[in-house]
Amino acid sequence: MMPARSLSYPVMKPIPLIIDCDPGVDDAIALLLAFAAPELRLLGITTVAGNVPLSLTSSNARRICELAHRTDIPIYPGCPRPLLNALTTAAEVHGETGLTGITLPEPTMALQSVHAVDFIIDTILNSAPPITLATLGPLTNLAIALIKEPRIAQNIQQVVIMGGAITHGNITPSAEFNIYCDPHAAHVVFTSNLPITLITLDVTHTAIATPKRLQNLRDRQHPLCEAVANLLQSYGSYDQERHGFEGAPLHDPCVIAYLTDPHLFRTRPCPASIELQSPTSLGRTIIDWYNTSQNPKTINIATTINAEAFFQMLGDRISGL
Ligand code: RIB
Ligand code: CA
Repeated sequence: MMPARSLSYPVMKPIPLIIDCDPGVDDAIALLLAFAAPELRLLGITTVAGNVPLSLTSSNARRICELAHRTDIPIYPGCPRPLLNALTTAAEVHGETGLTGITLPEPTMALQSVHAVDFIIDTILNSAPPITLATLGPLTNLAIALIKEPRIAQNIQQVVIMGGAITHGNITPSAEFNIYCDPHAAHVVFTSNLPITLITLDVTHTAIATPKRLQNLRDRQHPLCEAVANLLQSYGSYDQERHGFEGAPLHDPCVIAYLTDPHLFRTRPCPASIELQSPTSLGRTIIDWYNTSQNPKTINIATTINAEAFFQMLGDRISGL
């Protein structure tokens, strides 16, 4: 009898990760997907004002951790407004609570007293392995961390950003919400020489929670899949009216999918910058697709996603929580 061969595969060490977010419906789903990802070691969640004010993004992050029984994950509140501009929110998209489609109780888990910027700095400076950052909202926290302590740039593995657009914006004809909300913070991050992958609207607008995909989630008969379907059902109505989509685009979960399975995506390195002057294009990501500027191709731009495989992963993993 031949001894069973041990099928040893190279086991990748989980990626040490900080998620910076503004929950927000799609942020909430991204958090759930991160909780379900063995490829990730979530060190903490930092919150920022964006979709809704900071007090709500912070309490929503706590609500989602409690919903998934992950109150072990520390949550650090960050900046309540952009660097220069007044805060622009998106309650018309995410609901006044920021979590349209579900009702969750007032959270009881603690909110950390350390500021998000200090958590980001301390974690990165004191970590042996380089840290990965997933940013799902305006880039205010990361920008201030880079300004306050530039040395962190030497111990960041990569930053995967949901933001920007190669073509059309969603908050203005030119600009995507996260970048538009704090264009100056985006400029600081984009000019920091960090290894950045940008998941733009051109990708996330092809990851649509169609009625068939929502039904697939509900058919799994799992409370968290049901909650995700309810969130998306309600959140999707805005995009159906505004953009004529069949459902909600899953912006932020694409960032987590990229970290867990980058092969779901195609990418292209390009020079990219942020429009800071134009009153009509403020916050536009100027993505130099043909490198006409001959500038360094500093930003890895995601160009496509395998949406079917992404939704299969989403349902499989969240139903495993
Ligand atoms: O433009 C979409 C992005 O803005 C998403 O991250 C959404 O949550 C909002 O933050
Ligand atoms: Ca977000």
